[in-house]
Amino acid sequence: MASSFSDPAFNPKGAMDLRLQTVPFSGIRKVFDKVKELESSGRDVIHWQIGRPDFDTPAHIKQAAVDALQRGEVHYAPNLGTPELRRAIGARTTLDTGIVVNGEKQAVVMARANEGIMVSMLAFIDPGDEVIVANPNWHHYKSCVFLAGGVPVEVEATEANGFSLDPADVERKITSRTKMICITSPGNPTGCIQSKESLEALAKIAIRHNLIVLSDEIYARIYYGNGPVAPSIYSVPGMAERTIIINGFSKTYAMDGWRLGWTVASEQVTRALFKVRQYTTVCVNTFIQHGAAVALTADQSCVDEMVGEFAKRRTIMLNGLRAIRGLSVAEPLGAFYLFPNIKLFGKSSSELADYLLNEHGIATVSGSVFGDTGEGYLRIAYSCSAPECERGVVKLAAAFEAIR
Ligand SMILES: Cc1ncc(COP(=O)(O)O)c(C=O)c1O
Repeated sequence: MASSFSDPAFNPKGAMDLRLQTVPFSGIRKVFDKVKELESSGRDVIHWQIGRPDFDTPAHIKQAAVDALQRGEVHYAPNLGTPELRRAIGARTTLDTGIVVNGEKQAVVMARANEGIMVSMLAFIDPGDEVIVANPNWHHYKSCVFLAGGVPVEVEATEANGFSLDPADVERKITSRTKMICITSPGNPTGCIQSKESLEALAKIAIRHNLIVLSDEIYARIYYGNGPVAPSIYSVPGMAERTIIINGFSKTYAMDGWRLGWTVASEQVTRALFKVRQYTTVCVNTFIQHGAAVALTADQSCVDEMVGEFAKRRTIMLNGLRAIRGLSVAEPLGAFYLFPNIKLFGKSSSELADYLLNEHGIATVSGSVFGDTGEGYLRIAYSCSAPECERGVVKLAAAFEAIR
């Protein structure tokens, strides 16, 4: 088998080939690198490539971490996370899902949501096990499944269905090897929501086939529908036993650089996750957990303010994009992404993303980065200020006009 390294000397018995050949370098990172290069040569760039809030972490959260550091909270934390933070995660999840969660027994503080995903795969996916993932989708699930030795089985999430998973399509892909279904709602790259009804139908399928559901709810509170939070499959009767909630601080509290997330699951599943994480990060930085506990327990108006700001930008972006002839865009109910259809412009999505960046200084991500069903779309993250969004849509309209 050919080595996946350019240096043939570094291929110890080909041991790493199989996994490294199937896992790609992140297509989003490539855009970051290009943007950096353009900016260092003095180019002005509209930043629609970054899937993170542009706000600072609220001051009271930073202060709590600083206070903990000053107090000398500098030693190993308990493996599962500090009790205060686990209790806060339990209380937050109870509030968001309506299901009573005992955080001390059911939560694991992870070094980012990503660790929660990787640990879940390592705990439950044996070589050859199949995991259902949507296409298009945030690419990490697929790569984590590969790295655990499993087989991702993709289900097309179409624009006609609002990019959400159709339970009937999911059930058609289930085999005797299926172990898990991954749900991301609100989704990345589309901002799509799985409706309560579709979650109930997916729950029936998971129960019927005895499957685990990995429910990534990291954008749950960046929600523009009815109520403060997007519906969760964890709330469906019978699902608390078989669902692993993935969540974190990066998006809701603008804490992406803190690298902090969590899982919530049954006590039994949590024990399994805990066993694996003893061999990953072991435990998370102690003083930042004190800041994070305050994030969850203090007044939540900082979250309302950020979501309010995202809602404003979403309106600017939707109006601006819809005014561009030939472009169509679905109205997503969550997260901070738009996924416009660019098929009428006669270029592939990566050609178009390159054109927008190189010729017009507009950084987006090609939809094809998120799976072949993403071809014909661009991911736009409106994670820059409202005036920057206003400026961006004007530039975008000119860029599309130039290739009409
Ligand atoms: C759906 C989804 N889950 C998880 C993450 C990663 O979160 P974290 O920063 O906690 O690793 C992202 C980041 O973009 C995401 O889009």
